[in-house]
Amino acid sequence: MTVLFCADPLAATRTDPHFAAQARAVRDAGGVTALLDHDALLSGDLATAVRRISRDLGEVWYRGWMIPAGRYAELADALGARGVSLRVAPAAYRAAHELPGWYATLTQVTPGSVWTPWQPGEPPTADQVAALVAPLGGGPAVVKDYVKSRKHEWDEACYIPDLADVAHAHRVVSRMVELQEESLQGGIVVRRFERFAQRDGHTVEARVWWVHGEPVLAGPHPDTPELFSEPDLTAIAPLVTAFGHPFVTTDVALRDDGTWRVVELGDGQVSDLPTGVDPSTVLDRLT
Ligand SMILES: Nc1ncnc2c1ncn2[C@@H]1O[C@H](COP(=O)(O)OP(=O)(O)OP(=O)(O)O)[C@@H](O)[C@H]1O
Ligand SMILES: [Mg+2]
Repeated sequence: MTVLFCADPLAATRTDPHFAAQARAVRDAGGVTALLDHDALLSGDLATAVRRISRDLGEVWYRGWMIPAGRYAELADALGARGVSLRVAPAAYRAAHELPGWYATLTQVTPGSVWTPWQPGEPPTADQVAALVAPLGGGPAVVKDYVKSRKHEWDEACYIPDLADVAHAHRVVSRMVELQEESLQGGIVVRRFERFAQRDGHTVEARVWWVHGEPVLAGPHPDTPELFSEPDLTAIAPLVTAFGHPFVTTDVALRDDGTWRVVELGDGQVSDLPTGVDPSTVLDRLT
């Protein structure tokens, strides 16, 4: 197993401290690690991004900070020129990383959603927001881009109390677009709000790690490491297997009717592993 980790931005020959324990776990298991300059990749400087990666490493997994899907494709090209290939191809990465890529497979187990491609920094008009959300009818909703929400600006830029109030929906969607600035990923997603179990003002979410369609670990969401309850994956597992991606995570939450729901699916290479979880539980399965 060979895994590409992000380098420490302050010391290019070391692993980013956030991933150091995971890199150690890979080497302890007899695997090989290499270093990617993530800042250089995000700025489009591919030569610098891959300069410490030896040629002909073969097939590599990536573990590190999120990469926009377009930049991931550029990384694949730059590595290909060095005889190195990403174990997760760019199309598979995009499908797991961005909601429109996984939604169709998981519709039965995830909140109903609509989306539209969008350019960063473009304020939407009220009519555009009305047209986008029309298929959802009324009721509460949340907005995000194809990857990330502004969940910490919940009332201002994430939660829409009633889609029938177009002026309010327009304000919240516009604010989300404004706050994401140039980092808006792909477009705008609006999702029906579902009532999930809460504790201490947080949704109780479990992060499930899937390797080759098998759940190998269920742990807490990294933002709430102290909150965890063991999810029932009966309805979810066959759909994740059908998705056919070698390494994903699902964040799942318990709806008030007792059903476990998928809040989001993500590429496992860029999902944060909560502290307190032994990384080898997941990483040793990457073959
Ligand atoms: N459809 C929904 N119904 C109810 N609550 C939701 C819904 N979607 C998201 N939430 C709440 O908002 C939070 C953030 O949503 P989501 O996980 O989609 O965004 P994110 O920015 O990708 O977060 P993360 O930090 O997990 O990557 C969730 O943890 C959940 O508590
Ligand atoms: Mg989330």
